[in-house]
Amino acid sequence: MEGLPQGAEKVRAVRHMFDAIAGRYELVNSIASLGMDRGWRRHCVEALGLPAGSVVLDVATGTGDLCRESAAHGYRPVGLDLSPGMLSQAHTAAPLVLADALAAPFRPASFDGAVSGFALRNVVDLSALFTDLARVLRPGGRISLLDLAQPEQGLLRLGHHYWSAYAVPFVGSLLSDAEAYHYLPRSFAYLPSPAEVVKWLEAAGFGGVEHELLSGGISQIYVATRQPTGHA
Ligand SMILES: C[S@@+](CC[C@H](N)C(=O)[O-])C[C@H]1O[C@@H](n2cnc3c(N)ncnc32)[C@H](O)[C@@H]1O
Repeated sequence: MEGLPQGAEKVRAVRHMFDAIAGRYELVNSIASLGMDRGWRRHCVEALGLPAGSVVLDVATGTGDLCRESAAHGYRPVGLDLSPGMLSQAHTAAPLVLADALAAPFRPASFDGAVSGFALRNVVDLSALFTDLARVLRPGGRISLLDLAQPEQGLLRLGHHYWSAYAVPFVGSLLSDAEAYHYLPRSFAYLPSPAEVVKWLEAAGFGGVEHELLSGGISQIYVATRQPTGHA
């Protein structure tokens, strides 16, 4: 993680970066993922498996894509994000809250579920995030957390490397902010191993943790259930 910001500096850098790219975020995201991001978000929301009408927090909602997907599944979403620029570009009917996910202004057990998309790399302290998610979820509540990943195997790994390191920054610099899209591939270095994520989720009070790789390991999803005792 050499050269990448940490702690409070990372929070400022992340907010500044997403404010800068907000206007073209969805377009570049769709090109960078070759349109696969929509299917990944659909899968993320489906994996919650909650009854219609459930109240779902979209952590780091950005422009509200997962709020829209959650509403399409019959849930009642609430979006939270620390970037005013991203929230100003959101097109969702869901209530939106401007806040850091590590200081979420919600009462304990306020939500039936929580989702997040492409945010795990950006949060300064994932273990603290999971602890707060356990606090705001009711016992039995579900989480489904989606992020990118780096494929393990041969050709796909090579192709993914060149796409992320060269094509995405090139497209980003043509359509949006060059600095931000050079940072994004480097931000893979923040991603902890699945074993670490599972350990932190369990320590925070989640059980039945499942980790699934999508599209040959280009993205990944963690699904878990808030355990009924402790940690609240
Ligand atoms: C890559 S975007 C993802 C947006 C959206 N979830 C999606 O599926 O497209 C990451 C978002 O995380 C937000 N973010 C990063 N760290 C955050 C934090 N600590 N609290 C709240 N939002 C955060 C950024 O502002 C940005 O909008």
